[in-house]
Amino acid sequence: MLSRLKEIKHSAYCSIAKASSLQDVEELRISYLGRKGKLTEILRNIGTLKEEDRRAIGKMANEIKKELEEAISIRKKELKDKTKAPKYLDVTLPGRTHWIGRRHPITICGQEICSIFNRIGYSIVEGPEIETDYYNFGALNFPKDHPARDLHDTFYLKGDLLLRTHTSPVQIRVMEKKKPPLKILSWGKCYRRDKPDASHTPVFHQLEGFYVAKNVTFRQLKGTLNYFAYQFFGDDVETKFVPSYFPFTEPSAELYISCSVCKGKGCKFCKGQGFIEVLGCGMVHPKVFENVGYEPGKYTGFAFGMGLERLTMLKYKIDDIRLFYENDLRFLCQFGP
Ligand code: DAH
Repeated sequence: MLSRLKEIKHSAYCSIAKASSLQDVEELRISYLGRKGKLTEILRNIGTLKEEDRRAIGKMANEIKKELEEAISIRKKELKDKTKAPKYLDVTLPGRTHWIGRRHPITICGQEICSIFNRIGYSIVEGPEIETDYYNFGALNFPKDHPARDLHDTFYLKGDLLLRTHTSPVQIRVMEKKKPPLKILSWGKCYRRDKPDASHTPVFHQLEGFYVAKNVTFRQLKGTLNYFAYQFFGDDVETKFVPSYFPFTEPSAELYISCSVCKGKGCKFCKGQGFIEVLGCGMVHPKVFENVGYEPGKYTGFAFGMGLERLTMLKYKIDDIRLFYENDLRFLCQFGP
């Protein structure tokens, strides 16, 4: 009797697997488990078996019944799912598009500016985004209670660690390690406690450059930044240097360029000014040289720092900085490979 049960199980499994329609499966169910089914018959006759066989055979027959019920319901589900799938390949459907990645507009401009300065001998370095109070402020000649710090409110971490508010700390890190002549460019993320609006985001990018050697002059600073402006914005751009203040440069200035929309006439984009401020710059303050351990009076140098978002917005005439960070591919894909 046990071998008969095994045979029933085997043949039932084979037929269920081969069944190709729901109706076939239903017929199989009836032939094994229906009122007059093969397995049902055995179960019905268990009472007539010898006492000692009854338990083992009854147990096995019930197990097989359960297994077959499960196999039948699985096969039914498979066949049902199959009928839902399309029967034909529709060759008129459009093909699947493979998206090719593109650089973010900020990356495009960052890399272009690096290459502009690379061509006149600047090396590219990186600095940490988590800085100490000393590198972000102290070494750059911001006294503890100086109002110049007000513009640089940031996110404070444990101890005296903070998220850097500008890329200027890279000047200190490089000068501490290396002696002039130095021509360095660095760019990366900076952080300030700013509410997002059309021209502010709490995370943004800056580019920092400096040239330190013997007898570097303000005239070289102007020449270098004019060269940059012409390369980046085109030969017809006009530039203007305006006196300013930064604790780590003396004298300090800001570079303005003529508005790319109205060509200097005054429009909404430049708020009627005709010119737009694009960077801060100046001659490196003697105090900074002292802080990095350079011999007093031996070297001079200039430095500049620019906001990459602002430059990118001017180049592509984008009027809201938040567009860079909303991940809208319709916007992000417009700027090149
Ligand atoms: N770090 C300044 C800021 O974020 C910008 C700056 C001004 C950088 C003058 C410089 C510089 O290197 O010389 O406001």
